[in-house]
Amino acid sequence: MESGKRVSETHIMVLPFHAQGHINPMLQFSKRLASKGIKVTLVIAATSNSQSMHAQTSSINIEIISEELDRRQQEESIEDYLERFRILASQGLTALLEKHNRSNHPAKILIYDSVLPWAQDLAEHLGLDGVPFFTQSCAVSAIYYHFYQGVFNTPLEESTVSMPSMPLLRVDDLPSFINVKSPVDSALLNLVLSQFSNFKKGKWILCNTFDKLEDQVMKWMASQRPLIKTIGPTVPSMYLDKRLEDDKDYGLSLFQQNVDTCITWLDTKGIGSVVYVSFGSLASLGEEQMEELAWGLKRSNSHFMWVVRELEKKKLPDNFIEETSEKGLVVSWCCQLEVLAHKAVGCFMTHCGWNSTLEALSLGVPMIAMPRFSDQTTNAKFVEDVWQVGVRVKADEKGIVKREEIELCISEIMEGERGHEMKRNAARWKELAKEAVNEGGSSDKNLEEFVAELLCSSD
Ligand code: UDX
Repeated sequence: MESGKRVSETHIMVLPFHAQGHINPMLQFSKRLASKGIKVTLVIAATSNSQSMHAQTSSINIEIISEELDRRQQEESIEDYLERFRILASQGLTALLEKHNRSNHPAKILIYDSVLPWAQDLAEHLGLDGVPFFTQSCAVSAIYYHFYQGVFNTPLEESTVSMPSMPLLRVDDLPSFINVKSPVDSALLNLVLSQFSNFKKGKWILCNTFDKLEDQVMKWMASQRPLIKTIGPTVPSMYLDKRLEDDKDYGLSLFQQNVDTCITWLDTKGIGSVVYVSFGSLASLGEEQMEELAWGLKRSNSHFMWVVRELEKKKLPDNFIEETSEKGLVVSWCCQLEVLAHKAVGCFMTHCGWNSTLEALSLGVPMIAMPRFSDQTTNAKFVEDVWQVGVRVKADEKGIVKREEIELCISEIMEGERGHEMKRNAARWKELAKEAVNEGGSSDKNLEEFVAELLCSSD
């Protein structure tokens, strides 16, 4: 059922946490809702380049509620930043909702990032329905849920844990915050566990995954909360169902990117000959690790394109860019989707952030998993052992992945028999991802049901 203009009076507010890995999926979901005729306002808690955002996301309305939240201030603890975020974002959102209430389009629903559970209370207080949106995998949500309920305690004493509908997990496979070692980690542990403080309240719960990818664990989560629904992967439609014209980028980048340089460079390379390397928007490598990775890429038989964010560049070995200019390209940010979709890219060396993982699966690109922290360790476990679309690097006793290991993993994926198998598996996941979001697929049906319910409640 295409809901079309019938529902154009229905207005939804969408509130992501202010990080690229949270904005991208919620923005993309907003565009999908807008394509069904829903009026959507994406509420951005801070930004430095608002003008370019507006231009690129014309199907939805974007409102900025507090320029002061752009980033954590020096010396500010994570806890203090999160509290400041809560106070300023609540005030901004309240003022915005009141403004819309006085207009012809009062908002009815607030879809909020699950790491901002206070938004549920705010929504109820203002007479809206609250709907949490989980930007992490369902498996990761289920693990946090077990810990939230006290089934396991932190730090873990066992070396492996067994949970329903999941493979046996080693401690290293669990999200890094579970093994709390410092106050910084414990603030983040509290944040991820707080996602469940209002879990029983929201009518719907949206998850950025798809049924076939996380079949068993999704069923288990649905046994806890039946209205938990998959709506992913939230990859722009150009790469999946091609339903939205010109939808080939998320449309709101917090970083400056130079798409042309990357694509022009890739155009000169052979099919499947390039290793694309990126660690997302937050992870930072230590100097020794950066050096090992640099020499590992240089030693490998493949070309490479490496995203090194501006603040990380000083850690590159001296003259590395000049010495490897024949073989590699280092950029400070790129349009990852366009790069992953390029025929020259043969594999993705990734930190396994959930968006990067979903994007690689959806575009059929095998991975070299090099997780850093947070949910990335669990995603890496699934990439290697469950979906079988990649290899996970091994670190030495100091936690460093050495250049020889990097070289070995690259040759395994780019040249070895195992690499062929991974590519075949990745191609299969690509088809299943498309199937989920195409008309009648599991995620599309969930979206339609969600929209139909919105329609009923606003009649
Ligand atoms: C964070 C966490 O680290 C991650 O583990 C969690 O699942 C989501 O929030 P981040 O580290 O930035 O996110 O990684 P990821 O989830 O992969 O999101 C990064 C996004 O930035 C992706 O959508 C990717 O396409 C985009 N990106 C990355 C670019 O567009 N260009 C780049 O050069 C690099």
